[in-house]
Amino acid sequence: MIKKFLDLGLQPLANKYQKKSTKLSASKGQLYNLNVSFNTKSKLVSISKRIPSEKMFNSKYPYRSSMSHTMRTSFKNLSKKIKKKFKPDLLLEIGSNDGALIKNFKKENVIGVEPCKNLAKITKKDGFLIYAQYWNFDLVKKIKKRFNSVDVIYSANTITHINDLNNVFKSINYLLSNEGILIIEDPSLLECLKKNSYDQFYNEHIYLFSALAVKNLLNKFGFEIFDIENLSTHGGSLRYYIKRKTNKKQKISSRLNIQIKNEIKFGLHKFEAYKKFSVNVLKSKIKLLQILNKIKKDKKKILGYGATAKAVTVLNYCNINKDLIYNFTDTTPEKINKYMPGKNIKILRYNKNILKNYDYVFLGAWNFKKEIIKKEKKFVKKGLRFITHIPFPRILS
Ligand code: TYD
Repeated sequence: MIKKFLDLGLQPLANKYQKKSTKLSASKGQLYNLNVSFNTKSKLVSISKRIPSEKMFNSKYPYRSSMSHTMRTSFKNLSKKIKKKFKPDLLLEIGSNDGALIKNFKKENVIGVEPCKNLAKITKKDGFLIYAQYWNFDLVKKIKKRFNSVDVIYSANTITHINDLNNVFKSINYLLSNEGILIIEDPSLLECLKKNSYDQFYNEHIYLFSALAVKNLLNKFGFEIFDIENLSTHGGSLRYYIKRKTNKKQKISSRLNIQIKNEIKFGLHKFEAYKKFSVNVLKSKIKLLQILNKIKKDKKKILGYGATAKAVTVLNYCNINKDLIYNFTDTTPEKINKYMPGKNIKILRYNKNILKNYDYVFLGAWNFKKEIIKKEKKFVKKGLRFITHIPFPRILS
């Protein structure tokens, strides 16, 4: 049974930064209802409304994996590990974005699949083989004809963006070699509930995976998880190492059992945990608004740091306008001088002196808290204060 537990109100498409200040309307299909549900049988958590992929992942997609030092380092370390442990002759990445991972491999050893043509172009220019298409069975038939099979398939923060999971795994099953390894990483549902990071939910994140749900999902394709890693990226992610059940070469790690036990201990298999989460989300909204309104009353100015998709959920759920957060700043060229969808807060180009015009910073990219505070420590010394809503809204001391 599918049971709804969270209503985040009317939301715009998260990565659709507006060229000019625009009032969006639900009747024109520019806003959608963001509801989140739990499937009591499969344990899968998903948003109810599905936006067609073409509306989200097209040649205007602004998200770039290479924009943060944290992500570049994470991909670099992973590529070393993959080469050492699995020694793939051929690795395929589903959702290769701007090449942050595949750039760590030799061109003849990797294939990228990236439907956002603007991003695919970046890596193609460097000489990599990129299929600028969606990951589905039709594409895979084509790849199979040319390469027969692939030793490692990797995908970060992409599988949860694809509505038809059956098609995703059917395609992987068709292309992966018998002893091939599938590695996927996506934000962790357990971390989301623990951190009360309701902003992990937006139109692109159709699913939020737990080990419990992934285990169930893989079962019908004859796959199983043999190892799992907790990562700090994207506010807490899980990296799943997956193999065919018939492949006895890889041992099942005790880390898998530990993760499943932790998820069950937290109650991820039961609806009650999600109901409790939804109460905490409401409390978080009330507290954040109290903090922002107090700062406004004191006539101080707040800058949003990181014009993230997550921040779009927060702004629209909490109804935060530019009287509360005056501007955002971001390093991503595609976002600069545009407006936060739904709330029309202008995104300014990041420069190293930008913070001097503000009294407070709201961490839109709270998942890079350490990296950001370290980078801006000279302003912290001068009295600039950071605000975060994770795991509960507060001004950091
Ligand atoms: P991310 O948290 O991955 O975003 P999303 O919620 O959209 O998935 O993206 C971080 C954003 O923050 C990205 O747009 C780049 C920006 N950013 C900066 O502008 N400066 C920084 O120092 C860091 C670390 C990120």
